[in-house]
Amino acid sequence: MIPMVYTVYGFAVFFLVAWVCLWLIHIMALSYSKWKLYRTVDRSPPELPYPGVSILKPLTGVDPNLESNLETFFTLDYPTYELLFCVEDERDEAVKVVNGLLHKYPEVEARLFVGGSRVGVNPKINNMQPAYLSARHPLVLVSDSGIRMREDALLDMVQQMQSREDVGIVHQMPFACDAEGFAALYEKVYFGTTQARLYLSADFLGINCHVGMSSLVRRVALDEVGGIAAFGEYLAEDYFMAKALVERGWRLRVASLPALQNCGTRSVGGMQARLARWARLRIAMLPATALLEPLSECLPLGAGAAWAAGVLLSAEPLPFFLVHVLAWFLLDWLLLRTVQNGSLPFTKVQFLVGWVWSEACAPLVLATALLRPEIEWRTRSYRLEWGGRAHELKPKLKF
Ligand SMILES: *[C@@H]1O[C@H](CO)[C@@H](O)[C@H](O)[C@H]1NC(C)=O
Repeated sequence: MIPMVYTVYGFAVFFLVAWVCLWLIHIMALSYSKWKLYRTVDRSPPELPYPGVSILKPLTGVDPNLESNLETFFTLDYPTYELLFCVEDERDEAVKVVNGLLHKYPEVEARLFVGGSRVGVNPKINNMQPAYLSARHPLVLVSDSGIRMREDALLDMVQQMQSREDVGIVHQMPFACDAEGFAALYEKVYFGTTQARLYLSADFLGINCHVGMSSLVRRVALDEVGGIAAFGEYLAEDYFMAKALVERGWRLRVASLPALQNCGTRSVGGMQARLARWARLRIAMLPATALLEPLSECLPLGAGAAWAAGVLLSAEPLPFFLVHVLAWFLLDWLLLRTVQNGSLPFTKVQFLVGWVWSEACAPLVLATALLRPEIEWRTRSYRLEWGGRAHELKPKLKF
């Protein structure tokens, strides 16, 4: 029997080590963000012409921002590209929006693919498969429907791709457009702090953190592993795609401009449901997540470390905890400022409210994910098997 006191000391040491690691992660993410993000795009004429890009846009339904989001793809500052819009159902309202834009920009090469192709359970892959097979260019950009692009964003991604011959994927770090309302504040604070910290430090350490909402892929690399269809059996197709490419020696790169999500139906509940869905995917793929993730969050880690500091260093737990929270908050503010590269659309007080909300919700989101493991995505639900393969619980679509 190990005496009780050693167990207590063991836990205390564990918490303090985790706590020190998290501060290192903060500093790593902040320094890396300053070096990595918003590098100015090189406008000088390239030695070789830029390669063409086929942009895949999987769409389902219409939200108030869809048209203006899609329009940003018609006005990209990039010499050669084609837009391949994909809808599964010909009655989808998005068809009208796309046709309107095709009419407005006849000079932009663009096509609409209707019907999808059932290659697996992942609805996004099924939707994109026909367009992927018809894509004409050596680079493919997979871009979710709610993404907006700055004019220079594609050029930035291609320049990162061209920086080395063995770069297989260039992905934009998830972030959010400026918008009104509390849900937009929550979204920006979450993606610009918690998510950015883990994303940037994972990339710095060479850990696969690929999120496929806006991701440029080298076609030869993807075709080596069977194209997008090879990932149709996963819901986290982005993670497995990046894993397969890395295993074959390709590199991942984070673009210097973050992905601007601009869904037209933001809501706090929707945001939490999405975070819970992502947490379910992570837990199914890597069960240790459920134990380790609370240790990367400000409040649970701070509570554990304050207790540990009391046990080991006879510190006063409450002041320790408060200083911890304050320092974390300030570093998050600095990181968010870098990820935004400019002034934020809210005041410091609003940031404080959004930040407290985001941090307080994080443990609850994780708990929801643990208690209800089914994954709901749009109108369907799925269950994940060990290792990440998915099956649909109540298939609603006939093919
Ligand atoms: C980032 O912000 C700085 C200062 O406002 C600006 O000069 C620079 O052009 C911005 N970078 C990008 C890539 O937008």
